[in-house]
Amino acid sequence: MSNKNHNGFASSLGFVLASAGSAVGLGNIWGFPYKTGANGGAAFVLVYILMALLLGIVGMTVEMYVGRRAQANPVTALKKIHPKLGFIGLVAVVVPFFIICYYSVLGGYTLRGVIASFGDIGKDAAAVGEGLGAFMASPFIPALCTFIFLGLAVVIIMGGVQKGIEKASKVLMPLLFIILLGVMIYCLCLGEGVREGLNFYILKADFKALGWDGVAAAMGQVFFSMSLGMGIMISYGSYTGKEINLFKSAVQISIIDTIIALMAGLAIFPAAFHYMEVEGLAAADVGLGGFALMFKTLPLVFNSLGTVGGIIGAFFFLMVAIAAITSVVSLVEVVTQFVIQKFKISRKMAAIVPMTLAMVISVFVSLSLGGHFSLFNFDLLTFFDEITNTVLMPVCALAVCVAAGYGIKKQEMAENIVPSAPIVGTIVSYMARFVTPLLILVVAVFGVVSNVSQNVDYYSVIVGAVLLSAIAATVYFACRLDRTNTGCNADELASVADED
Ligand code: PHE
Repeated sequence: MSNKNHNGFASSLGFVLASAGSAVGLGNIWGFPYKTGANGGAAFVLVYILMALLLGIVGMTVEMYVGRRAQANPVTALKKIHPKLGFIGLVAVVVPFFIICYYSVLGGYTLRGVIASFGDIGKDAAAVGEGLGAFMASPFIPALCTFIFLGLAVVIIMGGVQKGIEKASKVLMPLLFIILLGVMIYCLCLGEGVREGLNFYILKADFKALGWDGVAAAMGQVFFSMSLGMGIMISYGSYTGKEINLFKSAVQISIIDTIIALMAGLAIFPAAFHYMEVEGLAAADVGLGGFALMFKTLPLVFNSLGTVGGIIGAFFFLMVAIAAITSVVSLVEVVTQFVIQKFKISRKMAAIVPMTLAMVISVFVSLSLGGHFSLFNFDLLTFFDEITNTVLMPVCALAVCVAAGYGIKKQEMAENIVPSAPIVGTIVSYMARFVTPLLILVVAVFGVVSNVSQNVDYYSVIVGAVLLSAIAATVYFACRLDRTNTGCNADELASVADED
């Protein structure tokens, strides 16, 4: 574990900004605000923050440490906990690959949003709606936008960790923050409707509306937003040396992540409600959640505010595009790092070859979003999103947490996570063994139960069964790990082959 790791991050700031770049994404700017609005406002925020503390920060520290102690990709890193655990790492490489295939399509839509905001200036609402309809109906243009978006991410990755990821994050993250701050202030100053927007978003603490569903949603949101269970923090952690305080970094990243999510809602809802008031529309007339909120409602909102609104809208979408691209960069890095280390090929080839395949798959996702193609009656976007969020991410996060909690000795964590304060590592180890897995279990069970009780169909039942058996298997392996206590110690790590 050399601290002069010249392939790694050059500074603690660079590492924090790159990881924050991964964490801050569509989940913050669009997922968090509408979930907050729909699940009891401040009540949701409170539970979210609690979950981020109990689950997010521990999970993130553990993942980073798993990567750092191995100085390698997630597959090797898991093998270095126990030689039989490589398959968990493999899931943590494959999941990001699939997320890339749909996240990039949305990234392409944000690029379109930048251009369309300018192009729509002076047009009426009907023409704005038609523009989006024509874009989605086209089989080529959304795919082209996806290519450009993913292509940009690949270019950043080809630059390497320091000259690509770190450099880009140091420019893009402050830029994102400044744009968001500006847009938020503009939206909060719109006057009419702002108060109603804030009421809808956060100025209520409605625990009834939150319910257990909302608690489960808050926990799911913490995973997604903090990029856990996807190999990302393992991979980024592997590019750090001892000089970086992983726990402190995880705290900083989660603070940045939460603040940006809160700010996004302070921009979106005041603007949307201002539009509704002025146009005399009811909440039911406009989409205030999911895809519709971001790509249908917001363009109308900004367009209705004239030339200045159009320009603000363009900046808004630029900000969303930045958030999305730094997230996709982190996903691409996980795949690229694995391919470089496994196949011993150059970074360029390792980035280009898998991403060419991802582009091909993303064309189908893009076609299905435009209504040309569907799978199990979902569009492919919803399908990938569902599978990764409800099954793969929780299982993978749980598996990594349990593997580290039971497979890595408490003492090793105490000595290495924050060497100057061993208590931190000790607490993280206890949390990883008992608290975090239990919470993850709760998310999963609640997710399955609420899903199956709402739609009793084969799909939900199969997904639920797969999820619960994966969890049972994880718990079983955890018990065995603990009993045999075969976790490698730091000296034994070196003996595990690095190549895969
Ligand atoms: N954390 C990202 C977000 O909030 C989600 C994400 C990152 C998803 C990286 C996938 C990969 O949008």
